[in-house]
Amino acid sequence: MVLRRITSHDQDEFLERVHASVGLNLPAAPEAFQAFVSRFDEGQSAEGLLVCLRDTGAIAGNVNINSIIRGRFQSGSLGYAAFAPYAGRGYMSEGLGLVLRHAFEELRLHRLEAQIRPENQASIKLVQRHGFRYEGYSPDLLFIDGAWRGHGRWGLTNDMLGMVPDTPHPTQPNH
Ligand SMILES: CC(C)(COP(=O)(O)OP(=O)(O)OC[C@H]1O[C@@H](n2cnc3c(N)ncnc32)[C@H](O)[C@@H]1OP(=O)(O)O)[C@@H](O)C(=O)NCCC(=O)NCCS
Repeated sequence: MVLRRITSHDQDEFLERVHASVGLNLPAAPEAFQAFVSRFDEGQSAEGLLVCLRDTGAIAGNVNINSIIRGRFQSGSLGYAAFAPYAGRGYMSEGLGLVLRHAFEELRLHRLEAQIRPENQASIKLVQRHGFRYEGYSPDLLFIDGAWRGHGRWGLTNDMLGMVPDTPHPTQPNH
């Protein structure tokens, strides 16, 4: 798999993949897609990434690093989805591995979190494969499908993968 940033030019293929998939909370119309992509334009507080097949470049899934907070946090929050017909083949596992390298090595984040509903076994398995640890359950954490839903919080820090940067991000305080 290869990882690349999403751009406004990905609209047609992205919407095609969303329409081919079932039940994803992702933009399904051009206007919504362009608004979605514009959130990532500055690359400061969120990154929109695509997991693509190495040989054809086809978009197999997406991963957002949302809510990037610098300073004493150096953290980000993950959102992701696998698109039909590429779900359940290990592509997202490989893609998430690339995202972790990008987040910890290039962005020099210290911690990533995924908020996952307890019944979402595919998502729990995905983060467990990469060593995320369960940190607890937050009731009414995110507004999904018209209601506030409780989620488990799964966290991973760069030291857990031996990816602590030699030089911290410039926004990290010295003490
Ligand atoms: C969560 C989600 C992204 C996981 O994607 P996925 O395609 O299942 O993940 P993978 O690509 O790693 O596929 C894993 C499956 O492929 C299989 N697989 C095949 N080869 C593999 C390999 N080399 N490495 C890992 N898994 C492999 C695994 O056995 C696994 O199947 P299993 O769950 O029955 O054990 C997907 O289910 C999804 O989009 N869900 C809807 C949106 C969502 O819930 N997002 C997360 C919100 S918190």
